[in-house]
Amino acid sequence: MDGNGRWATARGLERAQGHKAGAQTFRAISTYCAKLGIESVTFYAFSTENWKRPENEVNALMKLFRDFLEEAQEREKENEEIGFHIKFAGDTANMPEELVNLFEICEKRSADKTGTTVNIAVNYGGRAEITNAARRIAEKVKNGEMTVDDIDEDTISSMLYTAGQPDPDLIIRPGGESRISNFLIWQSAYSEFYFTDILWPDFTEDDLDRAIIDFCSRNRRFGAV
Ligand code: IPE
Ligand code: MG
Repeated sequence: MDGNGRWATARGLERAQGHKAGAQTFRAISTYCAKLGIESVTFYAFSTENWKRPENEVNALMKLFRDFLEEAQEREKENEEIGFHIKFAGDTANMPEELVNLFEICEKRSADKTGTTVNIAVNYGGRAEITNAARRIAEKVKNGEMTVDDIDEDTISSMLYTAGQPDPDLIIRPGGESRISNFLIWQSAYSEFYFTDILWPDFTEDDLDRAIIDFCSRNRRFGAV
């Protein structure tokens, strides 16, 4: 979800205001994904590298996540929110405890929901995710729970935050940059990419439709001819 800062600056607003606007877009687009019947969707909200940002921006983002999750709970009580399954993807280790608890509550409360799974990647990094998987596998081998020969690609997939979910068919990056920035690097081996200059707060349902229509015209061969 890129481009919040530039969206705000262009309007003479604080960057935090752009993140707020981006959160509204997240609400609209995640709801739309559920409406479309998309099985699984992941939103990249905060990377392991985003801690390098100024402290006030990091704090504003953490506060926004908290407010947003609290509000989502309220809405759910009033039955306004489409019931999708929320999953947290990321390293909880150096995150504010209060926020980790909120994510846990949201995961638990939505665990019985069928339909779309919405993964929210916070303090997420693809390399950190794979490193973490390698550590867990090494631990299992050390404990005699598995042998080196047992390790295959499915073993790695099963140790990622997205375990049990399909690899992404399509990855959309708004905000004008053409790079992956450590997002789902294992899972995206055969994903189709869609880059657009639209800044995330401006991203609409129509833009998602356009990306999906573009995706439908791709010829996916998965290495075959
Ligand atoms: C949102 O957009 C990404 C987050 C880390 C929340 P940016 O904050 O990267 O916006 P730009 O790229 O500065 O416009
Ligand atoms: Mg950016």
